[in-house]
Formats: sequence, C-alpha cells, structure tokens
Amino acid sequence: MTNLVYLDGEFVPQEQARLSVQDRGFLFGDGVYEMIRAVDGALFELLPHLQRLETGLRALRIAPDGAASRVRLLEVAQRLLSENGLTTGHATVYVQITRGPAPRTHAFPSASTLPTVHLSVARFQPPEEVRRIGATAVTQPDMRWARCHLKTVNLLPNVLAKQAALEADAWEAVFVRDGFITEGSSTNVFGVRGGELFTYPDCNYILSGITRRVIIGIAAELGLPVRETPILAGEAWSLDELFITGTTTDVLPIVRLDGRPIASGAPGPVARLLQERLAERLAGAARPRPPEDLPHLSGAGAPVA
Ligand code: PDD
Repeated sequence: MTNLVYLDGEFVPQEQARLSVQDRGFLFGDGVYEMIRAVDGALFELLPHLQRLETGLRALRIAPDGAASRVRLLEVAQRLLSENGLTTGHATVYVQITRGPAPRTHAFPSASTLPTVHLSVARFQPPEEVRRIGATAVTQPDMRWARCHLKTVNLLPNVLAKQAALEADAWEAVFVRDGFITEGSSTNVFGVRGGELFTYPDCNYILSGITRRVIIGIAAELGLPVRETPILAGEAWSLDELFITGTTTDVLPIVRLDGRPIASGAPGPVARLLQERLAERLAGAARPRPPEDLPHLSGAGAPVA
C-alpha cells in the first residue's frame, strides 16, 4: 500500500514528498515535533500532545497559523490513518513543524516565510516480548541544552546516546546530569522504592512526557505515592524497580543498568501493574466518543501559535 503523507497542504505518496534544501528544519533543526499513539484510529491523549506542540511553537516563535490549527491537525491525522489502512490496531502519528524554507541566516528569516507542516503515520508493533522480560539500559552523560522541555527536532544528543546504548547491547540510554537520572533518550524514567515512585521533576531538564503524566495519574488512582524527586544514578541499583515510559514504549521495566541487575533483575510488580493499567487506558481511547467530547479541540480551532 502507498504510504501517504501530508506536506504543506497536500497529501502525497511519501516518496514524492519533497522539501526545500533551504528548509530550516534541515539546516538548523529549527522546528518541533510530536509523536502520538493511535489505537484503532483514535489518538491517545491528543489534547496534551497538541498543547505541548503549541508550547514548543510559542517558545520558538514559529507561527504556522491555520495550517496547524488543532482541528486541521486532527483532520489530517485521521485522513492519513484512514488512507493508510491504520484505523485498526496500533499506529503512530508523527507531526513536524519547522520554521520553513529561507536563505540560510542564523536569525529568523523574513516574516513571509511559511512554516513547513508535515504529518506521517506508521504501523506500531508494541514491543511485547521485551516488555514481558524487561530491558537493559546504560547511563550516558546528559550534555543536552537546558531547554529539554521543548520537543524540538534537535535530537543529536539523543541519537548519539541511543546509538551508544545499542552498541552496548542495551535498549535505552538513560541520561545523567549532575549525578541524577534525568530521562531516557526517548523516554521518562521512574524508580520504585518501598512502594513509592520517584521521577525527575517536571522542569526544563526533561521532556514532560505525556505517558509520564498518565502514569502519575494512574499511580495516584492506585494509591501509590509519586515523588517528583530526582533519582541519584549511583543509587539506582538499590531501587526495588526501575522503568521507563513513552509513547512508543508504554511502560518498560529496566532490569539491568550498565550491566548490573536492578533488584532481582526481573520486572517488578509495580511496573507490571502500571503496564496493565496503561494498556487498558490505550484500549479505552479507542472506544467511540460522542461528538461533544471534541469541543475542546474545535473551541481552540484557532492557530496554534
Ligand atoms: N519521544 N523524553 C524524551 C527525550 C522523549 O523524546 C520522549 C518521547 C519522552 C516521552 O514522552 P511521551 O510520553 O510524550 O512520548 C521523554 C518520542 C516518542 C520520540 O522522540 O519518538
């Protein structure tokens, strides 16, 4: 089947989608993105994803106007899912908005430059086996800039960290800043000790994960205290459990860090329980919703930036 993508107002087969070599996303990494989970055609936690995208656009002062209104992005995502045969099962929706094509100067280009808006979708296979047995991770120094809360396409440190993990036969790289675990290369990190959850506070040193927030909510419902307190990397091995969360990860137990087992070296009960509850939430997202559930999107149908 043709992989149809969306680029600047048009739906085109992916191999025909063409960007200018002057696109500032290509030249400077000057843009933001989102990765959203779709289950049976429904977009999981769509509103927080759109809000995070808007936060990034505002911070970067990119104004795509109506081309990226919430309603328009939803329409485009739904059409892509439908035309690519992804309205059943798990899929991902990728959204990227850059400052657009312009002659290369570091400062912002002329106000007439139109931001580039791109969406694509893909089949997603939940990594069931690794989720069951747990994954391994390695620590990597967190040398990223101090605006990690913005989901920009500047992912070179994350790319290098993930590659270092793969070369060490590990699944994820866990960043360490000033001795504390901040987050993974594309995940947030939680520790469990004595029935309490610990995770890095929501601030500029991590991406405020949508899954992270869902997990904090589920933990609260289960009566599990969550402390937004950083985990000292050197103390990770004395935790009862360590796990990571993300849109393409769900809840994944980390059973070895830098080659040494966490607790017994097997997934723990808290991660298991949260895995199950998140799976239920994901399945629930796919249930048909009454149209009146959507005004929060259409009400904010104004340009995102
Ligand atoms: N990344 N931290 C970083 C650095 C991330 O890149 C991501 C997600 C997360 C988890 O956020 P969320 O729960 O909203 O997916 C945390 C996506 C999946 C990616 O880059 O593909």
